[in-house]
This record gives sequence, structure tokens and C-alpha cells, in this order.
Amino acid sequence: MRSIVIAAILLAGTVSAQAQQKPAVDSAKIDAAIAAAFPTAPPEWRPRFDQDETMKVCSIHHNVPPKADADAIQAREKAKIEYPADGNLLGDWKSGERLAQSGYGLRFTDYPARNPNGGNCYACHQLTKAEVSYGTIGPSLLNYGKVRNFGAAETKAAYEKVYNAQAAYPCSNMPRFGTNKVLTIEQIKDLVALVMSPDSPVNK
Ligand code: HEC
Repeated sequence: MRSIVIAAILLAGTVSAQAQQKPAVDSAKIDAAIAAAFPTAPPEWRPRFDQDETMKVCSIHHNVPPKADADAIQAREKAKIEYPADGNLLGDWKSGERLAQSGYGLRFTDYPARNPNGGNCYACHQLTKAEVSYGTIGPSLLNYGKVRNFGAAETKAAYEKVYNAQAAYPCSNMPRFGTNKVLTIEQIKDLVALVMSPDSPVNK
């Protein structure tokens, strides 16, 4: 009898501890709450409230997907990358620098859009020594091209990273700028030039 009581107490303890660690999540309720949280969002932004397959898998696994899922994400996202028709991945670093510093676009005050979107790279990365204020969610990109010897394969990797960050790193916190149509191919080329050109302030 006594052992049954103890077992019951232990069991109750385990259940409540588990309940504390992992509260039941009703994803339908979350979806409804998110949709209702932005009542003034323009209709063309609404589709962004629906998670795509990659976001769903990342959410389920709290951004640490098992290997098979991670491989599937990388393959899926890589297939979404579009390249410049002429094969040239390097644009103009000066335009890239302006884009990296600009957080314009996709904010409520930017609607309807009056200017092209920026990349907001400084919100997450250090890019030049001169910059005093930058975010640190992403690694510093100081001397990014220099330490990679301005190589062709590395330039391609940088293009792919900016176009679709999850093709390189599943469940990355970096936005998928090209795939989500935040930036154009031309803009991405300018940003690649910013990190990969010898004369860019990133590599000085
Ligand atoms: C919301 C934060 C965030 C923003 C905004 C962001 N990044 Fe990133 N970036 C990251 C993180 C985090 C990583 C580290 C790898 C990963 O998790 O994907 C990264 C990695 C990178 C890498 C590869 C670094 C390496 O070690 O090889 C490059 C290149 C890069 N970012 C460029 C950019 C550019 C250019 C922009 C602007 C268009 C940008 N990032 C905007 C978060 C961000």
C-alpha cells in the first residue's frame, strides 16, 4: 500500500515536472494569435504568416533539426537559389555598403514601398572597423574576403548564403533574402561585392 502511494506521488511529480518543462502547445491557437496580432498588415504580407515546410520543421525541433531533416532543409533551400544569368556574382560594393546599412522595407511605415528594400546586415554583423554600432547575432564579417583569398568558390558560397541562408545552415537565424524576395539578384551581387572585393572597406 505504502509503495503504491509513493509510486503515485512519484508519478504525479514526474508528470507535473514534465508539464512544466514542456507545456502543451496548440499550434492552431498560435497561428490564430499571430494572424490576429497584425490586423493592419496589408493583404500581400498575409502569406508570410503561414510557415513554409522549412520553418515548420525548424519550429518543431526548436531550430535543432535531426540530421535527416537538416539534410532535407538544405537540399530544399539550395534548390530555391537563382543565379545571375551571366554568371557574374560580384556587383558594386558601394551600393552593397548602402544596402547593408539600410533597414528600409517590410516595416509598417514602409508600406506602400517608396524605396527598394535594404539588407539590414549591420543589425546582425560587424562589417567595417569604422562602424561603432552593430548587432552580434551573426559573426563579424571583418576581412571576410581577405581571409578567404577572394576565392571563386568562397564568392559563390557568400552569394548562396545571402540568397538563402538555410541552404548553408539549416534553421539559420539569418533571413532568406533572395528566396523571400526581400532583395533582388542585383542587390545580392552588390552585397557579395561588399564582403568579397579587395577594395571594399570590409577587407581594408
Ligand atoms: C537576423 C540576423 C542576420 C541578418 C539581418 C543578417 N545575417 Fe548574415 N548571418 C547571421 C547568422 C546568425 C550567421 C551565422 C551562420 C548562420 O547561422 O546561418 C550569418 C552568416 C552570414 C555569412 C556567413 C559567415 C561565415 O562565417 O561564413 C555571411 C557572408 C552573411 N551572414 C552575410 C550577411 C549579409 C550580407 C547580410 C545582409 C544582407 C546579412 N548577413 C544579414 C545572421 C544575420
